[in-house]
Parts: sequence; structure tokens; C-alpha cells
Amino acid sequence: MQKTESLREMIHSLNFLVIAIWLMLPAYLPNNFAVLLGGGKPIDMGNKFSNGQRILGDGKTYRGTIAGTLGGIGSGLALNFIASSYPSLELPSFGEGKELMLVLVGLSFGAMLGDIVASFFKRRRGLKRGEALILVDQLDFVFGSWFLTLLLAPNWFLENFTALTLLTILIVTPVLHRITNVIGYLIKAKKEPW
Ligand code: CTP
Ligand code: MG
Repeated sequence: MQKTESLREMIHSLNFLVIAIWLMLPAYLPNNFAVLLGGGKPIDMGNKFSNGQRILGDGKTYRGTIAGTLGGIGSGLALNFIASSYPSLELPSFGEGKELMLVLVGLSFGAMLGDIVASFFKRRRGLKRGEALILVDQLDFVFGSWFLTLLLAPNWFLENFTALTLLTILIVTPVLHRITNVIGYLIKAKKEPW
């Protein structure tokens, strides 16, 4: 009896982690799409800023940003389909109708924007494209996605992201980020393992 109770508790706490990661997948995936499909014209068009460094650098391209955003939105639609097909899993929905689009644009494009803003500050600090900036590299897209989603779909955001969910995401994301980037490096999709 006690054994089943503790097992249930374990699944319950694990479920909490699954939901936090699930909610962030449309924000986690865009950068992976950008790594795989990016390239071509850089957003800053090669222009430099006052400190003589590139505004953003060659690592931020139009193609990567568009592919990343569309990839994140597409993944979100697929996740919504899974959640509604298997209601017993009790996975959260990204909304319906107009709100669904606002939520997915907020999470996906917000993630891309956060990453772009971080590159701007990396260049201002004299860091070259691809150079690591600890915690900024791991969390820039998290804050970008939260910010834009809170702006575009505040009701959905506040209903789904509790303080505990936000804290879980802040702790789990750097770990997941590290794992995916090492994989990306090993399969040679990425130049650096961060
Ligand atoms: N990428 C892109 N467009 C974006 C984001 C990423 O094309 N908006 C592609 C680029 O090929 C980039 C790769 O994904 O090199 C890895 O992304 P990221 O690590 O964010 O860029 P870095 O090259 O490390 O550049 P930075 O130092 O500015 O972060
Ligand atoms: Mg990088």
C-alpha cells in the first residue's frame, strides 16, 4: 500500500517536470531548427556597431530566425494535437484559435528574439560569434519566450506558468541546453558544444 503511494507520488512529481518541459518545447526547439536550417544573409547585413564589432554577427541569420520560429510553431501545433488526442495524459494545451497562434508566436519567436538580444550584448562585450557566455547562452531564449508570451497572451501565460513552473524551468533548462548542444556538436550540426 505504502509502496504504491510513494510510486504515485514519484510519478506525480515527475509529471510536474514533464509539464514544465512540455510548455517550453515550442521555445526550446527553434534554436535547433535554426542550427540545422540557418545560414545565408545575416540580420545585421554585416554592419558593425560603434565598438567596431558586428551588431549581431554571422550567427544570427534571417533564414535561421524564420526557420526556427516556424519550426517552433509547427512543433507546438503537433504538441497540441498530441495533448488533445490523449486527454488521459493531462498535458497542458497551448490554447485554441487566435490565442493558440499568439502563444506559439510568443514562445517561438520570443525565444529567437531573446537569443538575438543576447548576441547583441555578447558582441558589445567583445565576444566573437560562437564564443560562450555562461548562463546568458542557456537562458536568453527562456526570458525572451516568457517576455513575448506574457505580452501577447497574458491570460494563458499566467494560467500555465506558476512560480514553481518558472523556477523548475530556470533550473532544468541549462542542463537540457548543455545536453542538446553536445549532441549537436557530436553530430557536427554545431561548431561548438555550447
Ligand atoms: N542561427 C541562425 N539564426 C539565428 C540563430 C541561430 O542562423 N537567429 C544558426 C547559426 O548558423 C548559428 C547557429 O544557428 O551559428 C547556432 O546558434 P547560436 O549558438 O545561437 O549562435 P552562435 O553562432 O553561437 O553566435 P552567438 O555568439 O551570436 O551566439
Ligand atoms: Mg552559440
